[in-house]
Amino acid sequence: MSSLYIKEATGVDELTTAGSQDHPFKTPAYALFASQQKSDATEPKLFVFKTEDNEYQEISASALKKARKGCDGLKKKAVKQKEQELKKQQKEAENAAKQLSALNITIKEDESLPAAIKTRIYDSYSKVGQRVKVSGWIHRLRSNKKVIFVVLRDGSGFIQCVLSGDLALAQQTLDLTLESTVTLYGTIVKLPEGKTAPGGVELNVDYYEVVGLAPGGEDSFTNKIAEGSDPSLLLDQRHLALRGDALSAVMKVRAALLKSVRRVYDEEHLTEVTPPCMVQTQVEGGSTLFKMNYYGEEAYLTQSSQLYLETCLASLGDVYTIQESFRAEKSHTRRHLSEYTHIEAELAFLTFDDLLQHIETLIVKSVQYVLEDPIAGPLVKQLNPNFKAPKAPFMRLQYKDAITWLNEHDIKNEEGEDFKFGDDIAEAAERKMTDTIGVPIFLTRFPVEIKSFYMKRCSDDPRVTESVDVLMPNVGEITGGSMRIDDMDELMAGFKREGIDTDAYYWFIDQRKYGTCPHGGYGIGTERILAWLCDRFTVRDCSLYPRFSGRCKPWSLVTEEYVSAHIYTNIYTD
Ligand code: 4AD
Repeated sequence: MSSLYIKEATGVDELTTAGSQDHPFKTPAYALFASQQKSDATEPKLFVFKTEDNEYQEISASALKKARKGCDGLKKKAVKQKEQELKKQQKEAENAAKQLSALNITIKEDESLPAAIKTRIYDSYSKVGQRVKVSGWIHRLRSNKKVIFVVLRDGSGFIQCVLSGDLALAQQTLDLTLESTVTLYGTIVKLPEGKTAPGGVELNVDYYEVVGLAPGGEDSFTNKIAEGSDPSLLLDQRHLALRGDALSAVMKVRAALLKSVRRVYDEEHLTEVTPPCMVQTQVEGGSTLFKMNYYGEEAYLTQSSQLYLETCLASLGDVYTIQESFRAEKSHTRRHLSEYTHIEAELAFLTFDDLLQHIETLIVKSVQYVLEDPIAGPLVKQLNPNFKAPKAPFMRLQYKDAITWLNEHDIKNEEGEDFKFGDDIAEAAERKMTDTIGVPIFLTRFPVEIKSFYMKRCSDDPRVTESVDVLMPNVGEITGGSMRIDDMDELMAGFKREGIDTDAYYWFIDQRKYGTCPHGGYGIGTERILAWLCDRFTVRDCSLYPRFSGRCKPWSLVTEEYVSAHIYTNIYTD
């Protein structure tokens, strides 16, 4: 019978341990286990080191019993480990075989099949039973046993595509990644009852080509725009983020909105014009002008095309424009951009009431057309399930009554005091009021002093102007408009009040000289009306590549240090 030695403090439980006094085991259970692994027939005698006596002593009967139990446990564990290792080896062998056969599968088109008709996805839904070829980006990728499901996106829609048989097993398919571009060939089939997919169809793929393989791993698409990333990082990756469901949906609704607005203008007989963006006049105050060096002269990026639209009335009648306006806004509110798409119109020979009714018609009808649009309508429902189309007439609320309402509801002005006549109703107060009332509001008759130089005074109260802001729940002001001063002297007084040098405005002033007329107009912020329609928290989500102070990227000359020093990312001030 052999002897094995155990010393808890310095022993080592390994199969290579000798078990001598110099190289003892750590535990008695392992010593027994090791001796059995060496197929020793007889149980060894165990000696345990006793620190108190500083010597090895034979193990007690109770400790031996415990060691035997422990040894049984170790044996079971070893068997399990062996089984697992075997399984792993088998799996590795299977995978290697699979890979080898996957590598051997070449994807080839079956020449005997009917020629595939080139189709955009939106058009494929009606081609049940036909063999088509569609190109696009892999939006989703999922494998289910021996079938690969691809949701393909081409901007016109989404289609579910099924790859089975050799196509699903081929290495080329296993290597596919999200956002790779492919051309898929196959037959459009109707989905079985109870299953849902875009268009109610599926593409049974019989052949495909890879156009551009997107990276996987570290550099994969999902790593670049991981959900919940810092908004600033997502803005850096805007070119990729735009491919996401929500942003692309908003951009589609945006396109439908602009199309609908043009349709309403057409129905109302307004003519589209495109005034210049490089100007030498201000419209909405000097503090938000973007200055530029225009061949040595001072010029600005336009704040509004209004003044130019006014000059078109005499030649073209009622006119509109949809183009960029620029504001050097210092504040970082969730509804201010440095560049936004401005929908502006100007109408001649009308009253203030006519103007309000026209704005009402434009908003109600263009929203109606968006909701009726087969692509944008469902997207609005998806983005803003609780959206209710506005109905005319909108609530009319005079500025003076709004002041009373704010005081009655204990909403304070910017100084933290009760509102008084003449106070500007700043963004936070305005939104509280609009959200509480909860319906579209025409806020009218603002005091002369808080509005622009060109606004006409009300004949029954010269302290106030024939002006309107359209306020929508969750966003606040989406439109600003007014009747314009059509009298020469009154206009000159307006310029003087605002301290504006009139030299640069001779062409605008001439409108009052060569056949003046009552007229009015308005401007709608496209991103603001969209934020309301699509229920977005900020107008930044409604612009393709939003520009605001500190953000001109992609691509930007603003340094990273500047951005991080200003922490512009997700801070909005009201
Ligand atoms: O109220 P605003 O400044 O009015 C004008 O510019 C007039 N000249 C328009 C006209 O009568 N033709 O701007 C009109 C609208 C606002 O109601 C708002 O929706 C949007 O333009 N807007 C902005 N949108 C995003 N970012 C900004 N910095 C904006 N400033 C104004």
